[in-house]
Amino acid sequence: MQTRIVKISGDREKDDRIIEEAGRIIKKGGLVAVPTETVYGLAGDALNPGSSKKIYEAKGRPSDNPLIVHIARLKDLETIARDIPDTAYALAIAYWPGPLTMVLNKKDIVPKETTGGLDTVAVRFPENEIMQKVIISSGGFIAAPSANRSGRPSCTNASHCEEDLGGRIDMIIDGGESGIGLESTVLDLTAARPVILRHGYIDKAMVERVTGPVDIETTATEKPRAPGMKYRHYAPKGELTLVSGEAEKTARRILELAAGHAHNGGKTAVIFARENAALYEGAKDISLYDAGSLNDEDTIAHRLFSILRELDEEECRYIYSECFDTPRLGRAIMDRLSRAAEGRVISAD
Ligand code: TXA
Ligand code: MG
Repeated sequence: MQTRIVKISGDREKDDRIIEEAGRIIKKGGLVAVPTETVYGLAGDALNPGSSKKIYEAKGRPSDNPLIVHIARLKDLETIARDIPDTAYALAIAYWPGPLTMVLNKKDIVPKETTGGLDTVAVRFPENEIMQKVIISSGGFIAAPSANRSGRPSCTNASHCEEDLGGRIDMIIDGGESGIGLESTVLDLTAARPVILRHGYIDKAMVERVTGPVDIETTATEKPRAPGMKYRHYAPKGELTLVSGEAEKTARRILELAAGHAHNGGKTAVIFARENAALYEGAKDISLYDAGSLNDEDTIAHRLFSILRELDEEECRYIYSECFDTPRLGRAIMDRLSRAAEGRVISAD
């Protein structure tokens, strides 16, 4: 299949034609990668079981891992969800459109193919204008997982999408870099107390401000409530290890470990906070990845997936990363990094 890549240029008429065409493709059961404010999504018609099947195929994703349904009008929530609690409306007023996904009981109109067999549906009203327009032009309900091949880091620009899905989908809309760079917060509202299933830009405190106390799902359970959390995810081809501890000790430990690999020819890389750059200066034969300043956690979040992809391009074999326990997004960032490290964490002390 030939994948057309089209760029949003700012020329209103041309852009509208692109969006109309994307809408037509999706209505006919095809797939289009579309930018959103979190990461790029692989969009198909959420109400068409055939489209959801195609999404799973294109991503190479297990079909028990449900898709998020994206809407662009609040009233459409009631078409796909039932027993909607007041907290959902309160959260929608506070954070929609935006990077918050709510899990609710589904109505029959949503096929089980879209929800991975579950009786619930995850719903998000994204803020990105291109995505909103594509949703409307395709009929109002778009199923869109992150536009990466299953297991790879999510895509934060169109070339990531091309790398992973070129030749497998109908079209890629290039709308520039995703602003946030981490996937949305997923919040389960089907129990008495809300549960965060996946950390994202809307952190626990922001949810609690609206809903009162919130629980956090631990990913250690065998049957996590967000089925996606049980799969291997984000891991680069090389072996990533997180090193925790005070900055100078961490750097010393990482440099020692790197020196230990020098003899076997494998390329070593280190991911660090800008504040600590000097600690790695002059290190021989190590690729340096500056994740951004600890005072600017938005930038660290924004860069993370690109860095994980670059490590593969550069064929890094041993990768060490500092821990980024920043105040608001630290949890979301470290959730992705720990999964990329498949649990490998060592202490520098
Ligand atoms: O920011 C995002 O959420 C992006 C953009 C494209 O909107 N989408 C995204 O979708 O990250 P995906 O499929 O890569 O991740 C969705 C996560 C998975 O962990 C999945 O298991 C969980 O949400 N999920 C979806 N529907 C669910 C449901 N009904 N119950 C529990 N978890 C659900
Ligand atoms: Mg994903």
